Amino acid sequence: MKVLIVKDYEEMSRKAANIVASQIILKPDSVIGLATGDTPKGMYRELIKLYNNGDIDFANIKTFNLDEYYGLPKENPQSYHYYMMENLFKHVNIKKENIHIPNGMAENIEKECEEYEKKIQQAGGIDLQVLGIGRNGHIGFNEPDLKFEAKAHLVELDEDTIKANSRFFNSIQEVPTKAISMGIKTIMHAKKIVLLASGKEKAEAIYKAVKGEITPKVPASVLQLHPDVILIADEEAASLL
Ligand code: GLP
Repeated sequence: MKVLIVKDYEEMSRKAANIVASQIILKPDSVIGLATGDTPKGMYRELIKLYNNGDIDFANIKTFNLDEYYGLPKENPQSYHYYMMENLFKHVNIKKENIHIPNGMAENIEKECEEYEKKIQQAGGIDLQVLGIGRNGHIGFNEPDLKFEAKAHLVELDEDTIKANSRFFNSIQEVPTKAISMGIKTIMHAKKIVLLASGKEKAEAIYKAVKGEITPKVPASVLQLHPDVILIADEEAASLL
């Protein structure tokens, strides 16, 4: 794993956007895996700037998001659909049919997960996957577990994750307790991965992910086995490395 320690959130966001932008420039029909949460918001802002400057074009880009809350309709402002529209998609020229996010309202979740995986395979797999990290070491919504879940699946969210994500909701009771997440195998099959981390509340997870034992108890630790991962961490997130 390449580790790039940068000064702060802004520098992390610019560097991450430059990596995504160079992927788009080098392969204009790239398949890009996207993440939500606070961490990549700055990167999306920078990508929008690059798009407005005419440096990158999303016309032939396909995207697959890592996850979606179970039970939240697309229109719900807390859904990851809504987040992606607000933070990136409505600002760039990506085609609607090229945007993929799990449907948290699907009646048959198993079928939804299977079809999501199939669509990723049909697109040729993910060229570049952007990841954030949970305080408990989760990636996507792959929570600490006794085994790595290979494929897209329905997840029971950890108490810690529900608490951390309650900051986006009016109350903790409103936070969904389940989500659909891309699996570890699919993430690990991405050709390149950019892992982003900012702030001291991520320092322990980053330490365990980079230097700890490879274990499903720290899902991000599996990234140590991937041949092309770059971690961009600000000084606080990298403080225990
Ligand atoms: C969320 C998302 C993850 C994200 C992580 C960290 O629950 N499912 O994809 O990376 O938690 O979020 P944040 O960047 O807001 O700290």
